[in-house]
Amino acid sequence: METTTSEVGRAWENILAEPSGVTLQEVRGFMETPFFRFLVESTNMARMRCLEVGCGGGKFSAGLALAGHEAVALDYSETVITGVRGLREDTSLHCQGGSFLPLRGAAERLPFPDATFDLVFNEGVVEHWLRQKERLEILREMVRVTRPSGAVVVMVPNGKHPLCWFWHLTRYPGHLQAPPMHHYSARSLAREMREVGLEIQECEGLQPLMSLCQWPRYDRMKRLADRVGRIWPEDRWPLGLRLLLGVHLVVLQVNIAIFQLDVRHTVGASWRHEARPRSPRVVAG
Ligand SMILES: C[S@@+](CC[C@H](N)C(=O)[O-])C[C@H]1O[C@@H](n2cnc3c(N)ncnc32)[C@H](O)[C@@H]1O
Repeated sequence: METTTSEVGRAWENILAEPSGVTLQEVRGFMETPFFRFLVESTNMARMRCLEVGCGGGKFSAGLALAGHEAVALDYSETVITGVRGLREDTSLHCQGGSFLPLRGAAERLPFPDATFDLVFNEGVVEHWLRQKERLEILREMVRVTRPSGAVVVMVPNGKHPLCWFWHLTRYPGHLQAPPMHHYSARSLAREMREVGLEIQECEGLQPLMSLCQWPRYDRMKRLADRVGRIWPEDRWPLGLRLLLGVHLVVLQVNIAIFQLDVRHTVGASWRHEARPRSPRVVAG
């Protein structure tokens, strides 16, 4: 299949010189993290067809396959896909009804018909298109291949974290080993997602304590953060604080247009119970 050329894809290819070699054990560990839990708990469908757009090491998609979902892990980089194919051999041995398909392709033009997936998501991808028009095109493609009342989840680094300047000055590796990025806040991410036609969003800031113990004094800070977390668990922090300090910001959207249709035709129809049991914690204005 011919892959659409992508400038951002090529920039990543120059950085990702080797396949990541994520192991099944790492995937299992990752499934316990807030990143993975948010994705699965927020969507809460029994068996989802999932698409990860820009899968990197493939740990999200492999985790979804292990949890019994059908996962397609798409990436622009041949190197990345080579690495993820290695992972597939492992995960397929352990899947319980799930499946895992690594695929080369471009986010700009996803090689799927409209409304193919229940869940379309990515982490650390969308922010690398610096022009808003291009980011919206990427988001629109994600929406196009999501079925009505399916979910679109986008996770980006917290570009407005109060310590961003410090990480930049101290040359924190996570800031340097990636192409340039747009600095999102939870609000601006939600706004862009609303612009592509989806009106309900749940915003979350993940691992706010972790953000306070980033390099260079990680060990000491981590011990302190663990202690604070035991006394005051992160998930009990006010949402505003989680959004301010979260390492990553996540927005979940469900296609409201279809929800409205459902309500008109079936009295009391509740997409929330089908698609996600929790009520939205914030509707960003
Ligand atoms: C930060 S990494 C994603 C990491 C991933 N979430 C993980 O868990 O490992 C960004 C990924 O997006 C991919 N990417 C960049 N541009 C792309 C494009 N136009 N289409 C598809 N994938 C792209 C890169 O090759 C890279 O693997």
